[in-house]
Amino acid sequence: MTEDVKQDTKTMEESIRAKKGKAFKLTERESGVAFLELNLEEQKVNILSSEVMTELDKWLDELRTYTGIKALVILSGKEDNFIAGADVGEIKDIVDPEEGTQKAKMGQAIFQKIYDLPFPVIAAIQGTCVGGGLELALACHFRLAKIHPKTKIGLPEVKLGILPGFGGTQRLPRLIGIQRALRLILPGKLVDAKYAGKLGIVDKVLPLDYPGSFIKAAAEEFALSMQQSFLRSAYEKKRNAKRLHAILLESNSLGQKFLFKQARKRTLKNTKGHYPAPLKALESVEKGYGKSLQEGLEIEAKLLGELITTDVCKNLISIYYLNEALKKDPGVEKTKLQHVEVKNVGVLGAGLMGGGIAQLLAYHDLPVRMKDIDDAALNAGFQKAERVFQKAVEKKKLSRRDMKRKYTLISGTTDYSGFSNMDFVIEAVVENMDVKKQVFSEIEEKVGENTVLASNTSSLSITEIASAVKKPERVIGFHFFNPVHRMPLVEIIRGQKTSDQATVTAVAFAKRLGKIPIVVKNSPGFLVNRILGPYINEAALLLEEGAKIMEVDKAMVEFGMPMGPLHLLDEVGIDVGYEVSKILQKGFENRMAPSRIIERLNEDGRLGKKGGQGFYIYENKSKEVDTAVYDLIKDLTRSDGELSKEEIQERLVFTMIKEGILCLEENLVRHPRDVDAGLVFGTGFPPFRGGLLRYAQSLGLKTCLDKLKGLTEKCGPRFEPPELLQKMAENDETFYED
Ligand code: NAI
Repeated sequence: MTEDVKQDTKTMEESIRAKKGKAFKLTERESGVAFLELNLEEQKVNILSSEVMTELDKWLDELRTYTGIKALVILSGKEDNFIAGADVGEIKDIVDPEEGTQKAKMGQAIFQKIYDLPFPVIAAIQGTCVGGGLELALACHFRLAKIHPKTKIGLPEVKLGILPGFGGTQRLPRLIGIQRALRLILPGKLVDAKYAGKLGIVDKVLPLDYPGSFIKAAAEEFALSMQQSFLRSAYEKKRNAKRLHAILLESNSLGQKFLFKQARKRTLKNTKGHYPAPLKALESVEKGYGKSLQEGLEIEAKLLGELITTDVCKNLISIYYLNEALKKDPGVEKTKLQHVEVKNVGVLGAGLMGGGIAQLLAYHDLPVRMKDIDDAALNAGFQKAERVFQKAVEKKKLSRRDMKRKYTLISGTTDYSGFSNMDFVIEAVVENMDVKKQVFSEIEEKVGENTVLASNTSSLSITEIASAVKKPERVIGFHFFNPVHRMPLVEIIRGQKTSDQATVTAVAFAKRLGKIPIVVKNSPGFLVNRILGPYINEAALLLEEGAKIMEVDKAMVEFGMPMGPLHLLDEVGIDVGYEVSKILQKGFENRMAPSRIIERLNEDGRLGKKGGQGFYIYENKSKEVDTAVYDLIKDLTRSDGELSKEEIQERLVFTMIKEGILCLEENLVRHPRDVDAGLVFGTGFPPFRGGLLRYAQSLGLKTCLDKLKGLTEKCGPRFEPPELLQKMAENDETFYED
């Protein structure tokens, strides 16, 4: 063994032999079962870096020579993490496909050594077991997993633009069948221990109340039982039985062909051709299945090499890092302030958003009290929350028992009873400044001195709302997006007097709710609506020039947006969008003057999707362009000649790029990543492009400057390039260093 491995018997009296390396510790028990435990002591999670893999390789070589071992258990020294995958930093730095292929081959060869050990090897899983972690477990002969809130099992590599390259695309389909494996690999889906057991990934599932420290005992018992060949074959039979129904279709080449064809169709529909990784993963499964494992692994390694150097992979990795950076950001620069732990929350207004927010809080096990003006309004809030819970149960994301327990955490009142002990209050009453000020001055009298008072307003000034209370430093914007349970972003808006303390508490609280918070200064439209406003307006200006509704929307869907700008306005509500555009116009003068087309549709009473009519007609869950809109706006449109898809995309994308750079120039946010996170997590800006400003950077800031100059000449001063862009382009600066 390596030199840094030393005898360590004191801590393991029950062991007959113990050895410790940098990452792994080996203990042998009198029973003949050995434990190889991974614990990266300096880190929160176990990661398979090259260094860890090299150490593992040496342990495996040594273990192969041991004679007294009856079975080996591989486990983690961390309570809530088995292995979180390979080192993303190492993936990011690879620029040569051959290097990627070699890296995969090295990992595959090490894991093969696990499989080739002359005794049964069992992975004992508790906590996250994803990516390389699951691939390691798949190379073991058996797997145990303990039900635990943190036990998530899967191969999410496609989310980083790569495929499982340490054997995952070969071993998983061979273990659980093609269909089931594809359902996990192609979307990068994670499952819990119980479901992993049902799928056949895991041979034995340990219950939740199984004491943590006993996972070792359970694994030891299991390992010893594997000495009995009849028990061993019983487990293998059980595994095969689970695959049986799938095997019917998969056992003949025609059935397989059909399966792969369907999966390809589904993947193309979901990815719209923007993400190569799921297709390559599919190719790897298809080409490798039926061949020897070794041949399959070679195919997998080669395809990984092809993916690892793509722009999509690098962009998705940058989104991963952006997310990690935001997780660590307290929301205030260089602060030592600690957030206040939020235990009791009040929600004012039990409408669409209030009900949704109450559901989210209860889902995260927080007692929440809603307040509205009467019982009917309160009931609507309860119903909204119940509907969201119900859907989670239908989708099997929540058991009925858990739903009931969580739902009872929501209570309601029509006065402020029960509000005196609130740590955090979220106001979500109607979007009207007078009403909001009234509500804030009332609530101030009902809660304790340090309660944070947050507003979910989507467009009103936090500074002005805060002027209604005696302690404006505790007032902050806490802007959720609709639907609350699905949209990951929360904009945290600092009013002029908002304190650092309220900010760090709000940021930590948003994270506690599983959201991604970005801190934004108070300014019309905050960040997301400030950028979306002119973007949607530009779409209407394109209609004025004779473009068709579908042409505009399709161009942006092809760019990668989840929906086109006119469809988006229908979803938001044309009335709401029109109000926001007026606020933006007031804040930024004519640069954001709303197109008369939006005004016309609003006057016509078209509310968008909620009213069944906007740019589209909505009927029975389907939508089609409402051609009557063209008559309605006839006098506002002209025909300036055909606009190509590229021209439409350029106008719309550069409207956003300009606004995003202005937000940075005005210090509305502290870092370019806040703009990118806002757009990706608040609007669905295509992650494969890495975010708005990263996309601008990939085009080159000089190119962006030239494009904006050209658009200014063609379309007018609304495209004038921001000073910051001019300066950065002149000095060859970039938004991000790498
Ligand atoms: P809504 O109209 O569905 O609900 C408003 C609720 O406030 C109603 O139940 C009403 O009875 C209640 N209310 C009115 N005056 C009250 C008072 N004095 N005390 C307590 N409750 C009172 O409105 P929605 O859509 O839920 O919006 C609420 C807030 O959330 C607004 O500020 C809006 O801008 C913001 N928002 C809305 C989004 C959306 O998509 N609807 C998205 C993000 C933010």
